[in-house]
Amino acid sequence: MSTEPFSLNSLKEATELFQKHFGKEVLFHEPLKNHLAYRVGGPADILVFPRNEADLHWISTQAKAYQLPITVIGRGTNLLVKDGGIRGITVSLEKAFKEIDLISKEEMGTARVRVGSGVGKPELLGWAIDQGLTGLEFSSGVPGTIGGGIYMNAGTKYGCYGDILKELRIFSFSGEAKTYSREQFHFGYREQTAVVDSMVVWVVFELKPGDKTAIQKEVSRIVEERKEKQPLHFPSCGSTFKNPEGFSAGRLIEKAGLKGLRVGGAQVSEKHANFILNTGDAKASDILELIETIKQRVKEEFQVTLECEVIILGS
Ligand code: EPU
Repeated sequence: MSTEPFSLNSLKEATELFQKHFGKEVLFHEPLKNHLAYRVGGPADILVFPRNEADLHWISTQAKAYQLPITVIGRGTNLLVKDGGIRGITVSLEKAFKEIDLISKEEMGTARVRVGSGVGKPELLGWAIDQGLTGLEFSSGVPGTIGGGIYMNAGTKYGCYGDILKELRIFSFSGEAKTYSREQFHFGYREQTAVVDSMVVWVVFELKPGDKTAIQKEVSRIVEERKEKQPLHFPSCGSTFKNPEGFSAGRLIEKAGLKGLRVGGAQVSEKHANFILNTGDAKASDILELIETIKQRVKEEFQVTLECEVIILGS
C-alpha cells in the first residue's frame, strides 16, 4: 500500500503530462545526487527545469490537480536529500531566472540591482566586482544560487543577504506571483519569513558604488581566510549546524572529541568540526547518523542542543 498523500496513478498521469509539456526539460526517477553539491540523495519522481513564471504557473496547476507536493532546489549547496529521494515534483532553478539587471546607480549614493533567483552567488559577486559595486563582499566564497541564499538568509560573519535586500518577487505554490518589500518580513540568523510554500523569482539588492581594486582585495582576503579554515576539497554542505547563541558549533564538536569521526563514507572534518564531508561514497544515511551522534554527544557533554543549518529533505 502506498504511504504517499497522492496515488501512484496520479503520479503516472502527471508524469505523462510533464513529459509532453517539458520534453527534455524534465527527468523522471532522476538521482538527485547528480544535482546536489553533497553528491548524495535518492531519486526525484519528477525533476523539472522551468524557464519562466509561465512554467511555474503550469507546474503549480498540475501539482494542485494531481495533489503532488512541490520541492524547490537550487544548486543544492545546503541540502541533504535522503536516500529514498523526493516524492512528487522537484523544481530545479538550475536553468531559470539567470538575469542580473542594474536598475539604478547614483555615483555618490546607492545602486539597485535586480537579480534572478537562479543566478549563482559567485557569479553575482563577480558581476559586482566588474561593475565596481560594494556590498556583496560578505558572500565571498559562498556557493549556490541567490534563491537558495534568500531561503536560508545565507551569510557569514561579514553579513547576510537580508542586510542588502530591498524587494523580492515570490511565486507561491498556490499559483500566484507577487512583489513584496523587504520590510514586510523578518530576516534573522539563517532564518526568514518571506519564502514559505513558495519560491523566489527575483530580488532587488541595494549596493553602493565603490573602489574596484579595494573590493577585489577584500574578496580575495575573505576567500583566502575561508580556504585556511574550511575543508573545501570534499563535497559538503558547509556548516552542518547553526551556531547556538553564545557558542560556536565547530568548537563544541571539536571539544566533544568528534573530529575525524566516520560513518561509512561520511566524516567529521579534521579541519573544521562543523563540516561533515562526503569522502567519496557516503550515503545520506551515513551523514544523518553522524548528525544524530554529534547532537547526542554535544548535548551530553555541554547541555547544548545543536540545530541543523543544513536542510534535510526527502524520505
Ligand atoms: N572552531 C574550533 N574548532 C573547529 C572549528 C572552529 O574550535 O573545528 C572555532 C574557531 O577557532 C573559531 C570559532 O570556532 O574561534 C568560529 O569558527 P569559524 O571562524 O570557522 O566560523 P564558524 O562560526 O564556524 C561561520 C559560518 C560559516 C562562515 C564563517 C565565516 C555558521 C554556522 N557558519 O562559521 O558559514 O563561512 O562563519 O564567516 O554560522 C555556512 O553557512 O555553511 C558557512 C560555512
